Amino acid sequence: MEVRLAKSAGFCFGVKRAVETVYEQIEKQKLSVQKLPIYTYGPIIHNEQVVSNLEKNGVRVIEDLEQLKNVEKGIIIIRSHGIDKATFAAIEEMGHICVDATCPFVKRIHNIVEKESRQRKEIVIIGNPGHPEVEGIKGWSEKTAHIVESEEDIKKLDIPKDKEICIVSQTTFNYNKFQDLVEILKNSSYNVIVVNTICNATEERQTEAKEIAALADVMIVIGGAHSSNTRKLYEICSKECSDTYFIQTLDDLHLELPKSVRLVGITAGASTPNNIIEEVQSYVRRNF
Ligand code: F3S
Repeated sequence: MEVRLAKSAGFCFGVKRAVETVYEQIEKQKLSVQKLPIYTYGPIIHNEQVVSNLEKNGVRVIEDLEQLKNVEKGIIIIRSHGIDKATFAAIEEMGHICVDATCPFVKRIHNIVEKESRQRKEIVIIGNPGHPEVEGIKGWSEKTAHIVESEEDIKKLDIPKDKEICIVSQTTFNYNKFQDLVEILKNSSYNVIVVNTICNATEERQTEAKEIAALADVMIVIGGAHSSNTRKLYEICSKECSDTYFIQTLDDLHLELPKSVRLVGITAGASTPNNIIEEVQSYVRRNF
């Protein structure tokens, strides 16, 4: 029997890098004379296990600038979503050291927005208002940026038609929806430049899961019960493979594999830590 683990299972590049940055800082501070406290600006990832493990190592989650005013000076790690320019400056002004783990794909958007807004273009961000990544992007524009996620939002835009606009996107926005909204903006007689800043990590994970599930006799999807991207993976896999399991950890896995099973596929959602994936993988390899 073969076990095939999706290469794209679990953390994407940006999240992996951010989590590793925190562990690197823990090691660095252990060796330093000063031993500065370490904070993350918001939870580094939406995974309780990872966050509580970091807590055990002394890392505290800071929710906002107000909270930061009342803590000992230390290292503030910026998570992969990034933050706005003003918050960045405020953290440093308070005397903390900012360690920037913003995903380079998100940082690229910050740079585009800063440059284009400086050249007097209006910035339109296609994304979900209120999402931390979008709020961060907005804060790199020299003037107020516009956030749109629907046709209604475009109708409400208050931008003179002779203005040039620069369109960027939240990295996790749906590509087809992005294209539709860009078309509407183009047809609204706006003079637009479009930078597609959608990251394909999610799409790649879904495509690979689908390919493996189509070949597998049994498919295992690992991820949090409330994780929407894991649920989506489960839906995709279930369509291809009727014997698909959705588990959070190895404890949930009650596998009974008939002798006829030739291929077991494994994938995992974006916030599933590698150790859980490894545990499941080696269990299946050892026991069947
Ligand atoms: Fe992940 Fe960065 Fe893409 S955080 S989803 S690799 S934009």
